[in-house]
Amino acid sequence: MDVTRATAVLDGNWLGSSTVPSRSLYPHQWSWDSAFIAIGLRHRAPARARRELLTLFSAQWRDGRVPHILFDPGTPADAYFPGPSFWRAGRTSGLVQPPVHARAVLAVHRTEPDRTFLATLYPKLRAWHEYLRTHRDAGGRGLVAIVHPWESGMDNSPAWDGPLARVTPSTGFVRRDLDHGAAADRPSDDDYGRYVRLASDYRDRGYTGFGEFVVEDPGFNALLADAELALAGIADELGLPAAAATHRESAARVAKAMQETLWDDGFFFARDVRTGRRVPEYTCAGLLPLLLPDLAVAPALLATATGPRFRLGHVHGVPSHDLTAPAFDPGRYWRGPSWANVGWLVRQGLLHHGEHTLAEHLRADLVETALRTDFAEYVDPLTGAGHGARSFGWTAALTLDLLAQPAAVA
Ligand code: SER
Repeated sequence: MDVTRATAVLDGNWLGSSTVPSRSLYPHQWSWDSAFIAIGLRHRAPARARRELLTLFSAQWRDGRVPHILFDPGTPADAYFPGPSFWRAGRTSGLVQPPVHARAVLAVHRTEPDRTFLATLYPKLRAWHEYLRTHRDAGGRGLVAIVHPWESGMDNSPAWDGPLARVTPSTGFVRRDLDHGAAADRPSDDDYGRYVRLASDYRDRGYTGFGEFVVEDPGFNALLADAELALAGIADELGLPAAAATHRESAARVAKAMQETLWDDGFFFARDVRTGRRVPEYTCAGLLPLLLPDLAVAPALLATATGPRFRLGHVHGVPSHDLTAPAFDPGRYWRGPSWANVGWLVRQGLLHHGEHTLAEHLRADLVETALRTDFAEYVDPLTGAGHGARSFGWTAALTLDLLAQPAAVA
């Protein structure tokens, strides 16, 4: 029954060769959404999971970047802003999103082995990671810098407020997101104006270089390190042990750079490359390095995760922002609510570090919350009330994945 409900969401959001995150709010294909969607879809329709990822990579740019949106030609132009006419980049946007794709490709393959699928995507994944390493190391420390809050996937995180304050908001555009979502749940008009300004500036620079917003995000970099470990797994499956070793070394380099540059007093913080300073906000992105099995500082990071700022095990999911901070807002997009993908990632991290009881608590809570809220986009961590879109793609997909996982034994 639960599986049927989650599967029905993915069926309803399927466009024929990819899945929309939401029929109303996000009516195209989004990069990191598709990876999470494939992770769930593999249990019900592995061929569709492969198609999902192959479709996304069919839009990969020549420089290796995987665009954050692939626009559906059958969807009306005014259904989403900013659409193709804003980006002027064919059928895609010019930004990126976190590199969770290698992890998805390996998971899909392990559920239903398909060597052709793996061999097709391996060089594309390599080129994608290479783009990030060579075109995005703005700080010269071996970390990827994002050039827009949308690239973090955590658009209006309080960690971006400081760097964004340098940006003059654009005006004269029409937001489409407010047609489908409550204004109190979405980013403010000022923030949206800054997103549009940054995106048009980047477009006008030919989608290269660095502007006013240049930030090393611990979430993005942790996911890149994890993706290099997944790429090592893919290389092993393909019988390429030397390449696998190279990917493991690359993951270790990113982890070391994060430790040296972003770690301070029990947490991983974002760093504003323009000022050279860490941003003193505790956001859920700083918990994602738990994904790395060799993380030496895991005990201290777990202490922060279970302490008053995130209260893991005592709230619904993983709050996107520090519960004790003045900026915490339990209902507004990435300023407090819990998201299923972050919960799913942190659960993986808890398992890596032997926290089986907490991981099982989180798994049960994520499933219960998703089913009760009709697969809400995000939920209030204090009450569990749903916010944002319903029938949300990755919430349904990751519920399917969590239902397929055996309960962790304490
Ligand atoms: N998440 C952004 C939005 O809200 C774009 O990726 O539209």
